[in-house]
Amino acid sequence: MSVQRRLPLVTEIDLSGKLVFCRVDFNVPLDGTTITDDRRIRAALPTLRYLRDSGARVVCASHLGRPKGERRAEMSLAPVAARLAELLGEPVPLAEDCIGPPARELAASLNRAQVGLLENLRFHPGETRGEADFARALATGFEAYVNDAFGAAHRAHASVTGVPALVEVRAAGLLMAREIDALTRLAEHPERPYYAILGGAKVSDKIPLIEALLERVDGILIGGAMAYTFLAARGVSVGDSRVEAGQLDLARRLEQQARERKVAWHLPIDHRVATQIEGRQVSGLETTAGEAIEAGRAGIDIGPRTLEQWRGLLGSGVRTVLWNGPVGFFEAAGCQTGTRELAEHLAELSAFTVLGGGDTAAAARRFGLEERYSHVSTGGGAALELLSGVHLPGVAALEGARQ
Ligand code: 3PG
Repeated sequence: MSVQRRLPLVTEIDLSGKLVFCRVDFNVPLDGTTITDDRRIRAALPTLRYLRDSGARVVCASHLGRPKGERRAEMSLAPVAARLAELLGEPVPLAEDCIGPPARELAASLNRAQVGLLENLRFHPGETRGEADFARALATGFEAYVNDAFGAAHRAHASVTGVPALVEVRAAGLLMAREIDALTRLAEHPERPYYAILGGAKVSDKIPLIEALLERVDGILIGGAMAYTFLAARGVSVGDSRVEAGQLDLARRLEQQARERKVAWHLPIDHRVATQIEGRQVSGLETTAGEAIEAGRAGIDIGPRTLEQWRGLLGSGVRTVLWNGPVGFFEAAGCQTGTRELAEHLAELSAFTVLGGGDTAAAARRFGLEERYSHVSTGGGAALELLSGVHLPGVAALEGARQ
């Protein structure tokens, strides 16, 4: 069933003149006060423009970082308010606190079709604890609640689950709806053949995802550092590559499950390796002849034969591809080839292609390919949980809402 039928959508309710609490995920990376990636802010614009065009008075609320219930100047949403103002083409006033007199003054000052922003929700410990009193303080005076913060939908926090329970009119924003539609399509009715490419550092982070994928996909291709753990579990020597020694049994079990379910299971058949890795400085780069890596060398990317094999597997007949996690250390010079060429290959496919996780999205953006996939999720943990079969608390809080 599509999300449009399951969740009330912002486009289905009359918000003219109403004071709307709009939960967004403006948790963007900052270098000092400079936003290094504004994708999450841009992703919320369709909903914010829609609310503005509907004549609503819009108060946005977000977390930024993990300030642990304390006011931390470096985690202020001030740079976000400035960027949002640029993108909307009008000033966005920022309330210096998300509850109490500053929040009420902001709400009272807004005209129809105006957007304001509350300061970081996590400056109060009640947000992450999901405290009822804090939710009540946040909800004070609001006539409607819109949740467009897909990236935070896996958190049962006060602004995600507490506030919607207190406001009569609740709806999903356009980004939330798009994310859930795309990811639900993968989780519930993917077109086959369906392949998943998994990368990133740790097997342990992806266990529920792999278990859920094994029930749906035709094949799993594993790259990134987690591939070395799976190779080590097969008894292949991986030199000085990063291995999760505590996960070898699990890795064997997952591969066994794949065999039982007849899911094609592909690990790299060759690698790019380095003799030295210092931060993002990598030296002594070589390509291995096969899957084994000699002592004194650490894997940093998939090799050319692997790439060729994977391009063949992900041919024109493939209907669905999920890609979660870069297949190499793409941030370092000389280590991008596998991730870049795979990104380019997927961009050319006519399949339903979905990218999940912040690093995968960052890689696509770095290669200028962001717009070339069916969907690039703004959620990291939220996307993983949804694809692992978890019913997200932020989604549950919107269901069955009165309109
Ligand atoms: C994210 O960046 O994945 C979301 O904004 C959630 O942030 P959190 O992991 O700090 O809850």
